[in-house]
Amino acid sequence: MLLCAGDGAIVLEPVAHGAPVWRHCGARVGASPLPPLAITRTAASFSLDCDRPLSTAPLAGEGWFGPSFVTLRRDGLSLPLVWTGVAIAHDDTVVRITLTDDLAQVTLVQTFAVDAGAGWRIEATLINRSDGAIAVDALASVLLPVPASAARVVSWRGRHNAELVESCEALPEQIWQRETRRGISGHGGAPGVYVGAAGAGWDAGDMLALQLCWSGDSRIAIERDDEGYHILTAGAVLQPGEVILAPGDSWSAPDALVAFSACGRNGAMAAQHAMVRAMLCWPDGAMHPRKVHLNSWEACYFDHDAARILALARAAADIGIERFVLDDGWFKGRGDDSAGLGDWTPDPVKYPQGLAPLAQAVRAMGMEFGLWVEPEMVNPDSDLYRAHPEWALYRDGHPHWTARGQLVLNLARADVRDHLFGALDALLRAAPIGYLKWDHNRDLVPAGGAAQVRGVYALLARLRAAHPGVEIESCAGGGGRSDAGMAPFVHRFWTSDTIDAVSRVAMQRGFLAFLPPEMMGSHVGASPAHATGRSQSMAFRAAVATCGHFGVELDPDALGADDRRNLAQWIAFARSARTMVHGQGVWLGQGGDGLVWQAQGCPRQGLLLWAIRRAPPQDRRPRPLALPFLAGHGPFAVRMLGIAGGLAGHAAPVPDLWSADAPAVFDGDWLAHAGLPLPPLRAESVAVFHIAGGDRAAVPALAAFPFSS
Ligand code: GLA
Repeated sequence: MLLCAGDGAIVLEPVAHGAPVWRHCGARVGASPLPPLAITRTAASFSLDCDRPLSTAPLAGEGWFGPSFVTLRRDGLSLPLVWTGVAIAHDDTVVRITLTDDLAQVTLVQTFAVDAGAGWRIEATLINRSDGAIAVDALASVLLPVPASAARVVSWRGRHNAELVESCEALPEQIWQRETRRGISGHGGAPGVYVGAAGAGWDAGDMLALQLCWSGDSRIAIERDDEGYHILTAGAVLQPGEVILAPGDSWSAPDALVAFSACGRNGAMAAQHAMVRAMLCWPDGAMHPRKVHLNSWEACYFDHDAARILALARAAADIGIERFVLDDGWFKGRGDDSAGLGDWTPDPVKYPQGLAPLAQAVRAMGMEFGLWVEPEMVNPDSDLYRAHPEWALYRDGHPHWTARGQLVLNLARADVRDHLFGALDALLRAAPIGYLKWDHNRDLVPAGGAAQVRGVYALLARLRAAHPGVEIESCAGGGGRSDAGMAPFVHRFWTSDTIDAVSRVAMQRGFLAFLPPEMMGSHVGASPAHATGRSQSMAFRAAVATCGHFGVELDPDALGADDRRNLAQWIAFARSARTMVHGQGVWLGQGGDGLVWQAQGCPRQGLLLWAIRRAPPQDRRPRPLALPFLAGHGPFAVRMLGIAGGLAGHAAPVPDLWSADAPAVFDGDWLAHAGLPLPPLRAESVAVFHIAGGDRAAVPALAAFPFSS
């Protein structure tokens, strides 16, 4: 059975008894008939007489000594399985495998489906067909052999205010593992991993990328077995006893999105973007231009009332903002972060008329009105908690561990979900609210487990069905819940509470490894940055934010006149460039001397290229920037739109090439191999280029590049 997607192929071989065996997972291969695996393997000493090659669902009970696909208990004791029955249905795009243990009366259904033409969506569902209860201790989403060429593992870790720190390690001699235990996917970003060949880089080499569609605890492991293969396993982490299947019940592991590319990280990233994009449910069925928005949080924190917010909204409208989001502090009793969560009605002191007049006034200024909520949380000092202390997650007799003074509601309870749906539905009906920022500001202790995660999904799905026109942003103390599990319900992720543009460059690259740029909340914050205390120019802050879904997180009236005018120009620029930046191709890379670059758009129709320098240059002159993804295409008309920041050294001029009116024309192979000449950038500067295929001389409909101070 052959399933081709993108550059990759999966080949599975049905066997008479048990799960199909893996023959290949990696680069594309043809559909030619294969000799059965059994006649290609010799016997090995000290092994079962019955050979056990790696299958799609290996079991300890069958004499497989690697990681088991499923671990079950019945009556408190281990319930080993043996697949006695197998049925397979397949075509060119889907393989569906039904495995049964007739003795234990358990069925596993695995589906491998080509997704968006780019990769595979892999599903696993376990069904209890017996007449007794069965506890599921573990059920993998997928277990696969990593491609033979693989040598390096790329993954991300992080904390609040320092999300998405990249790690690159050698494939392990024993085991490599990334397990999260905070109840949410966490600040290390999406539960995923890249596994690449020794020389694989951004644009070349074999690369496999996997992410789980999951927002709770997860485990991704790569284990070397004693045949020398590396086996990649990924799935949700379950608490002991949390999934007990009554007769007839089933449990589905989170779906895994897997892609293989021969074009390095950029190829695998493109495939992941394609699969995530296929899951998005935009209002009206299609992505509309992503509204530039202003979020009130860092402009005024909790210190606001209707008059203050109206003034902020006016200042926002004056600089071209299209959506105004009222953040934390608007609801009953919420003077600071010690009280109020759970009581989702406007504070009678700050907003005596409710939110409707405010939302209407914002709309009359030409903007959409958005609102911050944190529905899964409750402060002990709230009417909700006083009425329903039993709704919080806790263990009898144990202390209630607060974080930021708050507890987590038990979303596994239908009555809690009903209550929250009612509260949110009432809010959305009471005022013209087009957008929710849905926050989650703590780790879970005790963990709510998979039922908590699925409870959140159910609540989000119900709200989306009742209010399909409302966009939702997922936030968890910045980027604590940015994952493909949330993707069917939300339209944006808040990348980090650190808006410092130097920090953001690496975070945004980590974000893009799994999720597309139109979902990446990227704001211009104040200088000095609130989270780091570092100061950066308006131009640098804004240029870095243009790579994602652009927004503003400051009070425009607190800016000097030049910065304010400059920010308005950047907003106009971001609005004019967004059709290239969102919903299209993304390429990342590194230049010489610490420079990083990023391109977004479509080579033929036009793309933006950001050449980003964070630290001062060491070299006397910048090396030309190789753009491998343009090889074999062209010619390209290239314009440097401007420099956000400045030039290195006192006297360094912009090269004549980039001061000319006409675009420079280069062949794609030249740009790919010899490289694009760069201006000498000083630290914290971005040179922004427009590149278009064919002989397009003009930059289509882009607003003037903002001046660059
Ligand atoms: C979290 C978010 C911020 C803001 C605050 C409000 O920290 O990441 O953007 O919404 O909560 O309390």
